[in-house]
Amino acid sequence: MNDRFLKACRGEPTDTVAVWFMRQAGRYQAEYRTLRRRYQLLDLVQDPDLCCQVTALPVEQLGVDAAILFSDIMVPLGPMGVNYRIQEGVGPVLAHPLRTADDIARLVPLHAQRGLDFVPAAIEKICRRLTVPLIGFSGAPFTLASYLVEGGPSRQYLATKRMLWGEPKLWGRLMDRLSEMVVAYTTLQVHAGAHAIQLFDSWAGALSRQDFDRAVKPYLIGIYETLAALGVPLLYFAVGAGHLIDSLADLPLDVIGVDWRHPLGEVRRRAGQRTLQGNLDPAVLLAPWETIEDSATEVLGQGKGGGHIFNLGHGVLPDTDPGTLRRLVEFVHQQGG
Ligand code: CP3
Repeated sequence: MNDRFLKACRGEPTDTVAVWFMRQAGRYQAEYRTLRRRYQLLDLVQDPDLCCQVTALPVEQLGVDAAILFSDIMVPLGPMGVNYRIQEGVGPVLAHPLRTADDIARLVPLHAQRGLDFVPAAIEKICRRLTVPLIGFSGAPFTLASYLVEGGPSRQYLATKRMLWGEPKLWGRLMDRLSEMVVAYTTLQVHAGAHAIQLFDSWAGALSRQDFDRAVKPYLIGIYETLAALGVPLLYFAVGAGHLIDSLADLPLDVIGVDWRHPLGEVRRRAGQRTLQGNLDPAVLLAPWETIEDSATEVLGQGKGGGHIFNLGHGVLPDTDPGTLRRLVEFVHQQGG
């Protein structure tokens, strides 16, 4: 087993810098596009053979040091009774946004959840096939709550903010339900064989530091403190969260993911030796190779002084050339020694 990624998570020395990419399985791959002509996204997720194939493809093609389960943050919400679809070019869209106490009370309680058996089945297959660690994941409660309350992607998250300011008790109930789900769902993944857990809080950057600290952070602390008992590295990634870094720095977890907008070196100064993950601008991969190399060198330099896992500062863009990603993995492995 290549354990470079796990060692880096724990802040242990590695032979070179570990690297993987968020959305390393996706539309930039011809093989993925071919599969998507025959299957819906959720078909790929729910069929353990196809899920294993899609998860393994980038690992085998790019030589990255970790796999990430092919799924979506919305998947565990289906068995909670949430009726959603994933619209191409847009993202998750709900038939009925959750706005009232009744809407939230109708969420199916955790113990009654069925219908996620394909997740452990896929994880077991992936772990048999691969020799790199598998990252399991979940959406973080705020980002999931924002999809549920808004009913889809949003620019300003006004319905969500209105609930967290105007109906704090209701907000608390929703966040409690989602936090319980996150714990149960990620625990299930680790029991099936996942070697690490990353929570994606894509929209947390929409909150001020004060609102994040008051209405979101306590739930994250609760989740991470509970998950610590699993004994696997715990990661967190939020988009556009430069203003939250001081708050993230003391969360009880192993790795802070940094989005591409924020200089990694500045986060390093504020987060100490804690392992950081990131943060090349995914759009740089569309630039000439010299620019990519310069930018990657800068990220590698700024990651020094503590654990560093090289990644993009958000997901791989569909226009990316797979050959560029392969070359970048080689470059990071050469430079990182
Ligand atoms: O390779 C991997 O990273 C694992 C797979 C993965 C997917 N979604 C598959 C997917 C992961 C980790 C996610 C997480 C996810 N899903 C997040 C958090 C990370 C982030 O990007 O901020 C969010 C916000 C979602 C919700 C979502 N699902 C969006 C915004 C989209 C994009 C819509 C579009 O068409 O651009 C999706 C669909 C989705 N999930 C795709 C993939 C590979 C797009 C490709 C497709 O439709 O086949």
